[in-house]
Amino acid sequence: MDIYLAPLEGLTDYTFRNSYEQVYGKGKIAKYFTPFISPNSSENFLTKEMRDVDRDNNKGLYVVPQVMTNNSKDFIWTIKKLHKELGYEEINLNLGCPSGTVVSKKKGSGFLGDIEGLDKFLYETMSDKYVQDNNIKISLKTRIGLDTASNWEEIIGVYNKYKLEEIIVHPRIRTDFYKNEVNKEAFKYALRMSTNKVVYNGDIFTRRDYLDFLTEFKECDAIMLGRGLVADPALINVLKAEDPVNYVRDLQKDKEQLSKFHEKVLNERLKIMSGDKHAIHRMKEMWCYMEYVFDDKKDVKQVKKSQKMEEYKLAVKVLLNNTNIVEKEHISFWKKH
Ligand SMILES: Cc1cc2nc3c(=O)[nH]c(=O)nc-3n(C[C@H](O)[C@H](O)[C@H](O)COP(=O)(O)O)c2cc1C
Repeated sequence: MDIYLAPLEGLTDYTFRNSYEQVYGKGKIAKYFTPFISPNSSENFLTKEMRDVDRDNNKGLYVVPQVMTNNSKDFIWTIKKLHKELGYEEINLNLGCPSGTVVSKKKGSGFLGDIEGLDKFLYETMSDKYVQDNNIKISLKTRIGLDTASNWEEIIGVYNKYKLEEIIVHPRIRTDFYKNEVNKEAFKYALRMSTNKVVYNGDIFTRRDYLDFLTEFKECDAIMLGRGLVADPALINVLKAEDPVNYVRDLQKDKEQLSKFHEKVLNERLKIMSGDKHAIHRMKEMWCYMEYVFDDKKDVKQVKKSQKMEEYKLAVKVLLNNTNIVEKEHISFWKKH
């Protein structure tokens, strides 16, 4: 099974991706997706966007930059820049973001409400001379609809008109955000009807979730995980084990690795973030997921309360000293989105 790391804005930036590869990945993650770049007509990336796709910050990893736009001209200049200046050969389009400000501009999952416009956009992109001449691989990360799944067949029909690298399907509609059950029937439909390769994404947080997925979707050979790998980065060892059913986790080692991973991410972030506050805030975002693998949340509270770096580091140390990691059967994340 190929495992992809999902783009998670505010979480899976290059500091996270590199630290992950060093501590856990080492070839285990087939593709790392960047959180989205949002181009406009200025034909330039923001400093933060540039830093995240800069080749010097992405050495030795297979990275797929993700772009969010509904304007083919903007998509094409971004593709050219990513290819010509930075050497990326595969680029992903975001058709899933559910945020209100994005959807109101008909971007992200908002674009799924204008199927004709989306078709035109894909036509203009896929027939562009630069894209064709350079064999740029375009993939999509898509929901199954904006406010209804009833257009999913039509949307798949549009995707089938183009030779895409793959479509990564998060089987929810925009109004689900990241809650409610995933729509397995819609995913089955995609597997059956898509002429492009189909990758699954959504709610694989534990070994149990993964094993259930394997039983239900035997024909799928690539999955993308987001929150599950942030919460429990060592879950990758189970996913890539020869026998994921019987693989025995060394939870003490997993905790040591989590400590190492956390330290690497923090140190890398401190290099680019001015002041403790910003870096601590970003680390706390990670703890909103990582807290679920500890058998007691008491010491996590102190981590989340800390304001100063010394206080934060001490709270993390206390947590890691006092509290065990456990492998859970199911995780139900605090519904943030
Ligand atoms: C905090 C957060 C940020 C996200 N940022 C992005 C993003 O930049 N691009 C994107 O395509 N999806 C984004 N997503 C969606 C995830 O990539 C993924 O589709 C979603 O979390 C479902 O997968 P999971 O259940 O494995 O987490 C984000 C999700 C969360 C929770």
